[in-house]
Amino acid sequence: MKILIIGSGGREHALADAFARSPKVESLVVSPGNAGIAKTHPCVKLSGFTEIEDYCKSNMIDYVFIGGEQPVADGLTDFLRASGIRVIGPTQAAGRIETSKAFAKALMKKYSVPTAEYVKAGTYEEACRALVGFNYPVVIKADGLAAGKGVYIADSPEEATEALLFLFQNPSKEGVIIEEYLLGWEVSLFSFCDGRNHVSTIFSQDHKQLYDNDCGPNTGGMGVLAPVPEAEPYRDEIESKIIYPILKAMYAEGCPFTGILYCGLMITSDGPKVLEFNCRWGDPEAEAVLPLLDTDLVDICQAIDRHELDRVHLNWLDRTAVTVVLASRNYPGTPETGYPITLDEGIKSSICYAGVAQKGEGLVNNGGRVMMLTGLGDDLMQAREKVYRDAKKVSFEGMYYRKDIGLRSNKLY
Ligand code: AMP
Ligand code: GLY
Repeated sequence: MKILIIGSGGREHALADAFARSPKVESLVVSPGNAGIAKTHPCVKLSGFTEIEDYCKSNMIDYVFIGGEQPVADGLTDFLRASGIRVIGPTQAAGRIETSKAFAKALMKKYSVPTAEYVKAGTYEEACRALVGFNYPVVIKADGLAAGKGVYIADSPEEATEALLFLFQNPSKEGVIIEEYLLGWEVSLFSFCDGRNHVSTIFSQDHKQLYDNDCGPNTGGMGVLAPVPEAEPYRDEIESKIIYPILKAMYAEGCPFTGILYCGLMITSDGPKVLEFNCRWGDPEAEAVLPLLDTDLVDICQAIDRHELDRVHLNWLDRTAVTVVLASRNYPGTPETGYPITLDEGIKSSICYAGVAQKGEGLVNNGGRVMMLTGLGDDLMQAREKVYRDAKKVSFEGMYYRKDIGLRSNKLY
């Protein structure tokens, strides 16, 4: 099998590592990848859909695996499929489950999938009027892709107005969703989907705030724990009330979902509720979940492509993964970049590279989230010990990471 992975982050590095473990993979290439991924997997720069198409045809690529949401939103799946190339990823229409919060919320409402109560507002004035019906804190979300920067939790009417002013100052904004604040604890579930059937992974837990104890600004994710044993008692309810109905709904609405469905959940005292859906693996969740997958990823892709996921059973290593994101100074603001990265001998955790660039012989940091370390252990403490021992072996000027990944208490109060 010849695989082409589209993307350039830690997630795509983790996907490349997972494909590389399959004896069925004959060749594997990441586009564009990054200078860190290029140390272990071939990377190629392809600009534009037509170049990707030509590359797939001349290299007889069997599967294109789309890593992130932007190519989905741009219609890459539809474009490649139209010329007979097999793609693991959703169509542009199915991708709306992530790219349009209004679409996702309306679908959940129509099919009674549990989620926060909400109102959609197209203008600032409409949004201000809608606020009156909500208690505080209230959640305000930009409708459309916002790269993890479109969610505001406002504690007062003043803060809410400030967020709305900010969101509406950009005239191209599609509008906002105002929603009820849900109290509980968060967990994510990924499901491989073939349009009609799906099979779900172990649970994982991202740590989105910048600082320990979940303080500070929201980021793209600072670290992950997988699996999350406290979530298992909710699995059947999540499957039957959320995943299954939403996939059935998408099929019924004429946009069947194929690829990886990411369900971000809040476990509340009323049961699990959807915070968001994404149309792809999470980053950095993929870096924690994929190393535990003990089923051949090529077999899963084949089953997705042939709509035979009902025949697939996923096996998992009986281990715990802790992923720690090493970030640049000033992330999630404008990161300070260009500093050499040094790695001491003896790192045992796996490394996935994200925001890095080649400079001379070595790598320098070149983005907010620079690299992800994943430690596997027989239990949480062992995984944490391993990953944090290894984090000390990495250095670059301004390097920052959270020290409390995996220690969250997943309890309802
Ligand atoms: P999202 O990008 O929609 O996942 O939102 C980012 C983060 O904002 C989530 O991981 C939650 O921590 C928080 N959040 C989003 N929606 C809500 C909500 N309705 N209630 C409470 N927290 C929320
Ligand atoms: N880690 C959050 C995301 O991938 O959206």
